[in-house]
Amino acid sequence: MTKQQHFGWFLSRGFGPHGWARPYYEWNYDWRRPGLYQEGARTLEQAGFDFVLIEDALSVGISPATLDLRVRKAYGGPKHDPWTLAPYLCAATEHLGVIPTANPAAWHPYTAARQFASLQHLSGGRLGLNVVTDVGSAHHFGQDRLSHDAAYDRAQEWLDALRLLWRSWDDGALIADPETQIYADGTKIRAVEHRGAYWSFDGPLNAEPLSSDPVIASPGGSPRGIRFAGQNSDIQLALSNLDVEAVRAYRERVRANALEHGRDPGAIKTMFVFKPIVASSAEEADRIVAASANPDDAALLAVAEAWSSDLETDLTTLDLDRPLDPAIFGEHVSQGTIKGLRGRFDSFADAPFREILAGKARLGRIGDGISGTVGTAEELADLIQALGDDADNDGLIFSGDLHPVTLHRALDEIVPILRRRGILRTEFAPGDLHANLASF
Ligand SMILES: Cc1cc2nc3c(=O)[nH]c(=O)nc-3n(C[C@H](O)[C@H](O)[C@H](O)COP(=O)(O)O)c2cc1C
Repeated sequence: MTKQQHFGWFLSRGFGPHGWARPYYEWNYDWRRPGLYQEGARTLEQAGFDFVLIEDALSVGISPATLDLRVRKAYGGPKHDPWTLAPYLCAATEHLGVIPTANPAAWHPYTAARQFASLQHLSGGRLGLNVVTDVGSAHHFGQDRLSHDAAYDRAQEWLDALRLLWRSWDDGALIADPETQIYADGTKIRAVEHRGAYWSFDGPLNAEPLSSDPVIASPGGSPRGIRFAGQNSDIQLALSNLDVEAVRAYRERVRANALEHGRDPGAIKTMFVFKPIVASSAEEADRIVAASANPDDAALLAVAEAWSSDLETDLTTLDLDRPLDPAIFGEHVSQGTIKGLRGRFDSFADAPFREILAGKARLGRIGDGISGTVGTAEELADLIQALGDDADNDGLIFSGDLHPVTLHRALDEIVPILRRRGILRTEFAPGDLHANLASF
């Protein structure tokens, strides 16, 4: 029996200049206006995707060298606030979940609880929060940079505080009875108090109670990150090799952590992020892979520029023929991202930097480890089906911008195949985003 899976779209460079410097940019879409995203959201809903998740970073950084690298090709900025985009996406759709990124560093819990409750009502229960723990923007908020694990502790306190506020109206507090003309019963609203390590404030919240909380998504892959997911999340965004063993192992870690926190492991969907390149034939796929086999220095420099932005470390001036010294990253760069750059190498000392970058520039055929992204729609469907049937995978999150060219290239062929095979839903569950996630 083929396993049905959940699908999402990760708007991986957030609400910024979509398609900048790509050949498809000249379509007269204005990335600052809502139309581009609304069109994309409708396409995703039509395809049967559960949600769109919007990446965000709060900062372009401060170091003059990397600030320029981040904005020069618009890799890391400008970025507009995804929470202002969310209502437009909800208004354009009926079922699609909308999950902007929220970093607790930037939100007082009271403001967060109120705004998210308002949007949860406005969207008919389709809101989610992608809770992230980046500390690189602390200086914008007059904060000290927390350590990696302390940022998770703060995120836990923040979510607990949001839930406390969302529950400050007891059952029966909301009456809204036209007969008696009574709207609410103030004796059933509790003046909750929060006294924590990072925030202290009083409730209650002045928003109506929720019939369901917003969905919680989390992307951290460290042991502390997985613990956070096990305790809180409905969706874990996972990065991994897309092979049966790796997918099964990652999912089992998440489920074991949920169980340790007294939760039903089935209540959290582990969904793997991937960015396939769909070719029209196996021969074309082979050609694309072969063409990337020997990247020239210009191609390596382009890879270095993109990673410099993500790592907030200028990699473009390094000697390509010597190994990279990891000390240049300092202590606050994500270990996961550094590991991502190393790729198949255990240590940067194992290869000249040129080889590390070439490993990023080279493409592989689908099924061929982490670089295996190129294949036909049938090959891609075979991989997705195998992950569901053999690794019990919950789902996948396609990654990219929301430009129509990107969406149609990625989805036009694969969606009908996945539907024919019974892997992708053809209708939504009645109810909210939780209902869709829980429907299989
Ligand atoms: C797939 C993925 C998506 C992420 N999205 C964001 C994001 O949108 N904004 C952000 O500030 N951090 C983002 N992060 C960073 C995480 O929130 C976290 O800070 C980082 O992964 C380090 O935590 P870890 O060591 O537990 O993985 C993302 C990480 C991953 C793996």
